[in-house]
Amino acid sequence: MKKTRYVLAFALCGLTAFAHGAAAPVNLIPMPAQLTVSGEAFTVNAQTPIVVDGSDAEARHTAEYLASLAAHTRHLSLQVKTGAPEVGAIVLKRDPQAPVANAEGYTLDVTPQGIRIVARDEAGLFYGAITAWQLLTPMPGEGDVRVQPVHIRDEPRFAWRGLMLDSARHFQTPDEVRTVIDQMAQHKLNTLHWHLTDDQGWRIEIKRYPELTRIGAWRTPPTVSKASQPGRYGGFYTQDDIRAIVAYAAERHITVVPELDMPGHAQAAVASYPELGVTGTRPPVSPDWGVNPYLYNVDDNTIHFLQNVLDEVMALFPSTYIHVGGDEAVKDQWKASPAVQARMRALGIKTEDAMQSWFIEQMGKYLAAHDRRLIGWDEILEGGVPPSATVMSWRGTKGAIDAAKLGHDVVLAPAPQLYLDSMQSDLPDETTGRLPSMSLQSYYTFEAVPKELSTTQAKHVLGMQATIFTEHMPTLRHVEHAAFPRMDALAEAAWTPAKVRDWHSFLERLPSQLGRYRMQDIAYADSAFAPTIDVDRNAAISSGHASVTLSNQAKFGNVHYTADGSEPGASSPLYVHPFTVNLPTTIKAVALANDSTPLAAARTRVLDLPSLRTRGTGELENCSGSDFRLRVQPTPDATSMAPTYLINVFDNCRMYRAAKLDGIAGIRVDTATLPRNYALAHDAKLVVAHKANTPQGELVVYMDSCKGKPIASLPLPADAPATFTLQGATAQQAGTHDLCLVFTSPITGPIWGVGAVTLLPADKSAP
Ligand code: ACM
Repeated sequence: MKKTRYVLAFALCGLTAFAHGAAAPVNLIPMPAQLTVSGEAFTVNAQTPIVVDGSDAEARHTAEYLASLAAHTRHLSLQVKTGAPEVGAIVLKRDPQAPVANAEGYTLDVTPQGIRIVARDEAGLFYGAITAWQLLTPMPGEGDVRVQPVHIRDEPRFAWRGLMLDSARHFQTPDEVRTVIDQMAQHKLNTLHWHLTDDQGWRIEIKRYPELTRIGAWRTPPTVSKASQPGRYGGFYTQDDIRAIVAYAAERHITVVPELDMPGHAQAAVASYPELGVTGTRPPVSPDWGVNPYLYNVDDNTIHFLQNVLDEVMALFPSTYIHVGGDEAVKDQWKASPAVQARMRALGIKTEDAMQSWFIEQMGKYLAAHDRRLIGWDEILEGGVPPSATVMSWRGTKGAIDAAKLGHDVVLAPAPQLYLDSMQSDLPDETTGRLPSMSLQSYYTFEAVPKELSTTQAKHVLGMQATIFTEHMPTLRHVEHAAFPRMDALAEAAWTPAKVRDWHSFLERLPSQLGRYRMQDIAYADSAFAPTIDVDRNAAISSGHASVTLSNQAKFGNVHYTADGSEPGASSPLYVHPFTVNLPTTIKAVALANDSTPLAAARTRVLDLPSLRTRGTGELENCSGSDFRLRVQPTPDATSMAPTYLINVFDNCRMYRAAKLDGIAGIRVDTATLPRNYALAHDAKLVVAHKANTPQGELVVYMDSCKGKPIASLPLPADAPATFTLQGATAQQAGTHDLCLVFTSPITGPIWGVGAVTLLPADKSAP
């Protein structure tokens, strides 16, 4: 059954990826608009020159970029030469007559005489060079490369192919930002939306207002336990850093669109200059994720302050668009402020939403007077927005639909579909992020033009964008794990015509891209291909043997396994259908591409009684009500990717479903003391408090439901360390029951993270 599915996947690919009878897939992502394979191949070796016209300095620059990529990722040192096109070369040529539709289009032909890339403009030539590089790197390796005789005529579907990087919640060094930019270029993305200010940090040097970075760029992380007192966290980009990054991006045909969030997400600015705020008091730069209350006030001085900031921003960023945020501004402070209310009356403005419109309009007019255009999150639609404003739809696609119908240009960046802080999978070893997970396939199949739009309205869709909000991505490794390879899926959805897109063809082409990541030390996620090793736990506990099912999220690749603890590989048994093993044993499984390169690292599952009685953090469900699920690390600014704890900030309660309680006399809970650093705004009232029986509270285990019979109560320690174990007896029961684990401590204290819950038989349960 499983085997049939895998074989079917390969068979389907044959329709598209193996273009016109070629022997191997053409390893390009994004797939070109038009591609045929015919004629004879061309072999590139170290003697193959890259030839550009001597008068074309930009083409030379692109040629050198291609040469450096080939050197880094294929150990091929290609020499760049100027002069007339020659036989046996890779030729990059700009031609005003090139048969391409726009500035980003190009043609690329591989014949026995060489590789010829022609474009009207520099951007097209650059994308042709990226395509050539991908053709040279079907797999990491060395030596000559036989390039298939492809004939490509290509141009992007959308003009805005974006990625948003949040450098406010966690700071990336300039070199790390350049790493992201390089990957964008390799994916033919052209817009870096750079989220530079938020409640938790102001990251851009503004010469006129030094406090923004002297104060606003630094925060004090929450204290987890009395034993750990973390230092300040932060950083900022000097104007020189920014100029260098903008230039670096421009060389890769990427426009950097800066975002300064307003009127909400302003706490770092208000911490720097309290007179910009509503309350007159100085808050800390926020250590709390979520929706913080601090808004800019609406005084002329504050408007002028922001316009002065925009002057420096416009001097640094040549982009047409400047992003002014506009999201998640809860208006409590404005409602409570006599000054804001007086200003509203003076302006004849009736609602706080309309006041936000007025605020945004001041920025829009200012930008327009400087030949720039305003873009903002879809909240800018509330209360009316100038027709020239472009709307970035993040609360689903409704904002895009409404805005396009009103005649605004729109960019699709909906949550959760294109939010890369959604986890890649539910695998036990997945790192931080929000749930539900958003699979590689869901990215691939996302359609940026909502079907609700007419053909005319659809013309307002500039394109699409993935977002990297970094609350839970403290390091570049986290960012890379979140972004790749889902960015490949996004890139193809943004570039390739809808009728050419094909999920199975994409999967066929992806292993080469994973190879390119490995060559560049990019920590991509293998989540889509990682084998899951499933058994019916309770049947195995009863019978002493287990029926094992192997699969992976993408249902792609050949899964090989071992049951003797050895490392699985191509010569290990191929998984075809569920198989039975006797306990105890260890299963290891790996997913390989057809040519045996790994799609995912091997995964291991120990099958013995203790592990079958243990549920990891990701295997425990929310108790009821809220479906909020978040996987976090012990500290918000963790330097590694593990361990993680799956929590519900609204209810510190976990469900252990279908626990087999026969012979069980105790329970062990690996627990972590996690900071409660969540700003929940109006949702704070939804946080569930459970009544405690002792001063520190306890973990109470109920049977069948959270209103059922208590079978254990384990007191929480005073001054709890960062991690600790709770262990105690359970009243003995028979049969299979759900267990509800409720933490009763005050909701002003930490969130208790459950790493794992193990049920203990009578002989193992003594504390
Ligand atoms: C957003 O996620 N608040 C744009």
